Amino acid sequence: MSNVLSAQNLSKRFVDGERELGVLNGADLEVKAGERVAIVGRSGSGKSTLLHILAGLTDPDVGEVRVAGQSMTNASSDVRAAIRNRHMGFVYQFHHLLPEFSALENVAMPLIVSGRALSESKQRATSLLAAVDLAERLGHRPHQLSGGERQRVAVARAMATEPDILLADEPTGNLDRENAIQVLRLMESMSEDTGTAFVVVTHDASVADKMSCSFVLEDGKLNARPIAQ
Ligand SMILES: Nc1ncnc2c1ncn2[C@@H]1O[C@H](COP(=O)(O)OP(=O)(O)OP(=O)(O)O)[C@@H](O)[C@H]1O
Ligand SMILES: [Mg+2]
Repeated sequence: MSNVLSAQNLSKRFVDGERELGVLNGADLEVKAGERVAIVGRSGSGKSTLLHILAGLTDPDVGEVRVAGQSMTNASSDVRAAIRNRHMGFVYQFHHLLPEFSALENVAMPLIVSGRALSESKQRATSLLAAVDLAERLGHRPHQLSGGERQRVAVARAMATEPDILLADEPTGNLDRENAIQVLRLMESMSEDTGTAFVVVTHDASVADKMSCSFVLEDGKLNARPIAQ
């Protein structure tokens, strides 16, 4: 099966005045359709930086990211945005919901933007929100939701367009076990039903254990994660 995402030899350092901070140093990643990949690693090891580079939101100093066979790294910002809209979903570590819109509108938005009819978009948004146990919160705006509820809205929103690949930064970080398992189940059924691939950054070993494979980001590289004892 072909790779939906491939990242080769990614390196990234941040320069702050005199000081240089090497974050990535030759990280490689290949993700196939329907695969669910977990990335774990210490706080500050570069996980969010890596996801932003995979999504073409940050440029690596060295290396290349290809999404569905197209180079993200060498593309113009318009082409990158088109690749992202067509193929990717993204769940930020700090959710980035639109504050003035309801949960339902936040989830329906990417569908409406992609040209789907309003009623169909709302219907799909409603069923996705029900799947993350938020059927009773459709009309709530982000500030009227708890942290974990916002996170589930962000997951539902990223899934709305059935992307080829969904990148998620700590999507279960604020969730209790029951809701975390529900989000994981939703990912699993989506990877089976629509072939969506997932790259999920997590601190939770039990989340990583439920993925098809997992890596540790350490010393700027992605290494196979040792099997849990
Ligand atoms: N724009 C930036 N400029 C300078 N340094 C940065 C920048 N973004 C991130 N860093 C630094 O790079 C390192 C990696 O940051 P990153 O956010 O990728 O870590 P992380 O693995 O996601 O951590 P966490 O688990 O706490 O979310 C950190 O030490 C951070 O301070
Ligand atoms: Mg992070």
